[in-house]
Amino acid sequence: MRESDTFLILTRDFIWTLFVVVKSIITAYFRSFASLSVCFPRRYKDVSQDIILITGAGRGIGRQIAVEIAKHKPKMIILWGRHKEPLEATAGVIHLMGVQCHFMTCDVSDHEEVYKKADEIRDKYGDVTICVNNAGVVFGNTILESESEEILHAMKVNTAAHFWTTKAFLSAMLENNHGHLVFINSMLGIMGLAGAAEYSSSKFGSAGFVETLKLEIANEKKDNVHVTIIHPYLVETGMFSGCETRFPSLFPALDPEYVAWKIVDAILTNSYMVLLPRLMYFMSFVTKFLPIDAIIAIHRFTGVDVCMDSFHGRKKKKRE
Ligand SMILES: NC(=O)c1ccc[n+]([C@@H]2O[C@H](COP(=O)([O-])OP(=O)(O)OC[C@H]3O[C@@H](n4cnc5c(N)ncnc54)[C@H](OP(=O)(O)O)[C@@H]3O)[C@@H](O)[C@H]2O)c1
Repeated sequence: MRESDTFLILTRDFIWTLFVVVKSIITAYFRSFASLSVCFPRRYKDVSQDIILITGAGRGIGRQIAVEIAKHKPKMIILWGRHKEPLEATAGVIHLMGVQCHFMTCDVSDHEEVYKKADEIRDKYGDVTICVNNAGVVFGNTILESESEEILHAMKVNTAAHFWTTKAFLSAMLENNHGHLVFINSMLGIMGLAGAAEYSSSKFGSAGFVETLKLEIANEKKDNVHVTIIHPYLVETGMFSGCETRFPSLFPALDPEYVAWKIVDAILTNSYMVLLPRLMYFMSFVTKFLPIDAIIAIHRFTGVDVCMDSFHGRKKKKRE
């Protein structure tokens, strides 16, 4: 290859890259503005042929996502969780909405069980085309208080499980150039919190996984296989019961129905990343650019530094 060719190719690639960068920044800001304005109606994708799997769908955000997405009449919704009764209850609600719904117990921390249940779905119903990774756990101890088993369990459910489900469903999605992998992360996957090390680390781990996944799918040049990551602030489901800041009325916990609506909106518009509520975009920007001493001062002023002291989650777990 001649030197001039190399220079020309480099110049062409540079201009193209610059164009794509500017275009994606403008599109992201426009989308964000449009989502605020009633003048720009949302254009949702059609899910009538989709088989949607939701993990941790027996209660909380997972159940609400199932109900919210059922309103858009997908072909089928499949629910996973460890306990039959809550899954059965969610499935009952979905049936009443006129959508085909099945449930299976599946512990997502166990890769063999995930692969086995994924095969079962493929044999019985066909390929999962939208997989919502919602199941999550928190123990909420300081690093020194955390037990090794709790740390490993949080890593398995909140991070490793995302490898298992992706390995189970992504190949078919790529083959058909049709699919969507959704990950319910947390604001604690963007910023740390004293007293929630195992949770925050596992959510940061998942965030790294999701970004890499997005880049690997881009390398495959499959433009109809989408990835979405959601980072909500505190949600009123009981998962973080007892956790209190100094100004609870300024930063109230989010309503699970609202969170599910925003998650389904992000899925149906193929959005990549959504932080909830909007103020969290500012918080995430601030925590990335402020020195750590400034962040510590803000945590102390807002009471975030000790908010996990009163945490008891779904069960009281503080050791004496
Ligand atoms: N609540 C919040 O403040 C908040 C904030 C930000 C992000 N999030 C994230 O949102 C997601 C849902 O949270 P949530 O508030 O709805 O929690 P939740 O009410 O405690 O529900 C968690 C769900 O995960 C399931 N689950 C737990 N371990 C599992 C396992 N090994 N295998 C399969 N399913 C499992 C549980 O069902 P079984 O116990 O029956 O298995 C349950 O249905 C989580 O990923 C959480 O980290 C929550």
